Amino acid sequence: MDNIKSYINQHKERFLNELIELLKIPSISADSAYKNDVFKTAEVVKVSLQKAGCDAVEVCETNGYPVVYGEKIIDSSLPTILVYGHYDVQPADPIDLWDSSPFEPIIKTTELHPEGAIFARGASDDKGQMYMHVKALEFMTVTNQLPCNVKFMIEGEEEVGSESLAAFVEDNKEKLKNDIILISDTGMIAMNTPSITTGLRGLSYVEVEVTGPNRDLHSGLYGGAVANPINILTKMIASLHDENNHITIPGFYDKVEELSLEERAEMAKAPFSLEDYKSALDIDSVYGETGYTTNERNSIRPTLDVNGIWGGYTGEGAKTVIASKAYAKISMRLVPHQDWGDITELFTNHFESIAPKGTKVKVTPHHGGQGYVTPTDSIGYQAASKAYNDTFGKTPIPQRSGGSIPIVALFEKELKSKTILMGFGLDSDAIHSPNEHFGVFNYLKGIETIPHFYKYFTELSK
Ligand code: BES
Ligand code: MN
Ligand code: MN
Repeated sequence: MDNIKSYINQHKERFLNELIELLKIPSISADSAYKNDVFKTAEVVKVSLQKAGCDAVEVCETNGYPVVYGEKIIDSSLPTILVYGHYDVQPADPIDLWDSSPFEPIIKTTELHPEGAIFARGASDDKGQMYMHVKALEFMTVTNQLPCNVKFMIEGEEEVGSESLAAFVEDNKEKLKNDIILISDTGMIAMNTPSITTGLRGLSYVEVEVTGPNRDLHSGLYGGAVANPINILTKMIASLHDENNHITIPGFYDKVEELSLEERAEMAKAPFSLEDYKSALDIDSVYGETGYTTNERNSIRPTLDVNGIWGGYTGEGAKTVIASKAYAKISMRLVPHQDWGDITELFTNHFESIAPKGTKVKVTPHHGGQGYVTPTDSIGYQAASKAYNDTFGKTPIPQRSGGSIPIVALFEKELKSKTILMGFGLDSDAIHSPNEHFGVFNYLKGIETIPHFYKYFTELSK
């Protein structure tokens, strides 16, 4: 790719300013108070795709938030890359823990980011990473170097389960036809250690409700004589792991893919410092399933975690009360071959079965999806590997991630195509947390690397 470095240098300020404008719109898909902002973001993405050179751009209505679609078809005999990303973001709370306002982006330097990082909700997940693709397309069209066809599909419901996108994909298989799907919505190992994400975990997300007495009671008058739903719920949750941190739900591990010792040894070669990991989180020890390393625990092993738990009195001071109900939100991260529908059912049956007499339990599934693994011997992987080699001067390391992008497995099922996950984020970007940020270096490196992928993928497809 000729001149990419100089093009980026020349347009750096504008590239940053455009992303900052996009980050100012609070496109929180989970909170209906931001509905207009989510719709507005779709329009801004649409205009950006038009400006970058897409010929046909539409904001496609769905039952929920729209999918922004754009394409530039230069020659039907050339391969087609389908770029996926999301313009919605997570809620910003707890807002007090942000050092700057989540929707007033600012660039600050940090120890890790001497070139600066953009602090805002969505900076890394996924507006910043999605916008790298828009700017990469701009470069290729302006300098006449687009080597193949490209389609963009940018959705607004990723953070809430991609329900509308699933329907959109099923209804538009012809339109979305492609040779490879390209996504930047994951991370890399470290600033100077590029990696390609070769796996995503599946997910089953449920909400549970435990009901005891029909009303809140005086904890002195009734305490000790009726089941306290909060005591019971916490006990039930605690019983879901044994002393080895193994999940106790019968059948939970039946389909889990066990990696060979060779595969695990290969994984262990990836650079990783347990000391740095602990100190970044301010913990004196890691915790998890016996027999597995930290990197195995958070990628190739399934997990169960409480994401939220509430009930009873949580206001100021003390109120003596036994609540009628207690609740929790629970996520299970799944690995290849575990079906999220089956796991949801196993969880539900087990959780209902362990409820003691005197309580009622309700389990409500939220959303979920299957895991994904991508082969490293495909031309898509090779093209990505060569691209990183050109721009980082290093061969990227294949790495399975613990996160989930459930729609990726659906793409494979419906569109019959593989996905290449070229993430440029870092674990320290604090996605979903206060002070989310995305390095200026990472943003510009992404813009630089993507066109190389286009070039190599086109060449290798011949
Ligand atoms: N981009 C993330 C997923 C991710 C991040 C994967 C980093 C790998 C590395 C995505 O936006 C996300 O947050 N997904 C959710 C699932 C979704 C159904 C809400 C997740 O993983 O919790
Ligand atoms: Mn994301
Ligand atoms: Mn996310």
